[in-house]
Order: sequence, then C-alpha cells, then structure tokens
Amino acid sequence: MNDKDNLLLSADFSQRTPGAPAHDQFRQRWSPRSMTGQALSLQDLETLCEAGRWSPSCFNSQPWRFIYALPNTPEWDRIFGLLMDVNQLWAAKAGALVALVSRTRFEANDAPAATHSFDAGSAWMSMALQAQHMGLAAHAMWGFHHDQAPQVLGLSDAFATQAIIALGHPASADDLPEPLREREVPSPRKPLSELMFPGALPRA
Ligand SMILES: Cc1cc2nc3c(=O)[nH]c(=O)nc-3n(C[C@H](O)[C@H](O)[C@H](O)COP(=O)(O)O)c2cc1C
Repeated sequence: MNDKDNLLLSADFSQRTPGAPAHDQFRQRWSPRSMTGQALSLQDLETLCEAGRWSPSCFNSQPWRFIYALPNTPEWDRIFGLLMDVNQLWAAKAGALVALVSRTRFEANDAPAATHSFDAGSAWMSMALQAQHMGLAAHAMWGFHHDQAPQVLGLSDAFATQAIIALGHPASADDLPEPLREREVPSPRKPLSELMFPGALPRA
C-alpha cells in the first residue's frame, strides 16, 4: 500500500519521538479502534495468520492457534459474545476476530511448555506488523470472558487463552463513540533510558 493512501499513517504521531533509528514499522504500528465494519477477505485473514505462523517459538513448538470469525456468521456471534462490553462497543465494526490461544504443553512429550505465552506474543506482533503493512487495523484484547472461552472455542485443558484480536479496515476517529474518540491516537512510550540497562537493573 502506498503510504499516502494509508489511513493509519495519517494519525497524529507527535507523541512518538524516535529514541534511536529503528525501522519505522515499529513506531508506526498502533492499535486503532475505529474500523469500517467491512469484512476482511479470507485471503487477507490467511495472510495475517501466515505472518503469525513464521514467528519463533521455543523448540519450534508453534503453540499458537488462530481461531477466527468473519462478520455475519454464527462463529462471529460466539467469539464477539466473549468480549467485554467495553470492547464490544468498538469491536462490533471489526472485519474479523481472531482468538489467539496457545498450547500449554509440548505436543512431542506433553511436558509443560513454559514459553507458550511468550511465543504466542511473538505471533501476535507478527500479525500486527503484517496488518500495518497492509493498511489494516489490528487491536489485541485481553478484555474478554476467559472463563467462557474454552467451551465457546472448543479448547481442551491443553490450551490457554491469550487474546482476541480485532482486525479490520481502518475508519476515521470521528466514527467512534465520544469516550473513545480522543484516545484514538498513537500512544507514547517510556524513553530508552528507563528501559535499557547494562548488566543489571539499577537498585530502587
Ligand atoms: C495483550 C494485550 C491486551 C490488550 N487488551 C486490550 C483490551 O482489552 N481493550 C483495548 O481496548 N485495548 C487492549 N489492548 C491494547 C493496548 O491498550 C495497547 O496496545 C497499548 O495501549 C499500546 O498502544 P498501541 O498498541 O497503540 O501502541 C491490549 C494490548 C495487548 C498487547
């Protein structure tokens, strides 16, 4: 996508001052809530999951699973129904929902896979960056009813819920309900000086 056609890049990035010359894709990725409601094509959804598929994981165990729903389907009603009200308010206009779950035990030997959440997090970030490249919005949500998820998503005890990801075609911030409108802006980060330390954390 041409940068000038990318609605996500027309946001106000003034709070995002680079701390060092990392690739712009990292600073330019953000989590919009305003989406048009247009369904994603299955091809686009596959492309996003494909990006997640190539993520690194401990022993290449690939613990992530992408359970998706497109609008106006029975699956949508079930996954959308898991979201907390505060997220339903805006995610109703997403073009797809993906419940990201992870296998908590290795398939090879059933031993606990201590890094399954860390691995699933890398899959989310790959999907988010791929979405950004495609001019699509990607917004992860922890705010859903995790207790109901195993039954709705068909999860055995071997799986843990990580996030439900709203994906969609971006829309103007003006289309959001008032309390969300002013938050529809790329957020700042702590400076590198508060995050990066030689050898050990400084003593408090
Ligand atoms: C694991 C995870 C869970 C999140 N849960 C929610 C959520 O339930 N609702 C929401 O509106 N945003 C949620 N967010 C979005 C974060 O608030 C957002 O990523 C953060 O403020 C940084 O903003 P940015 O993604 O635009 O850079 C979540 C993000 C992550 C990574």
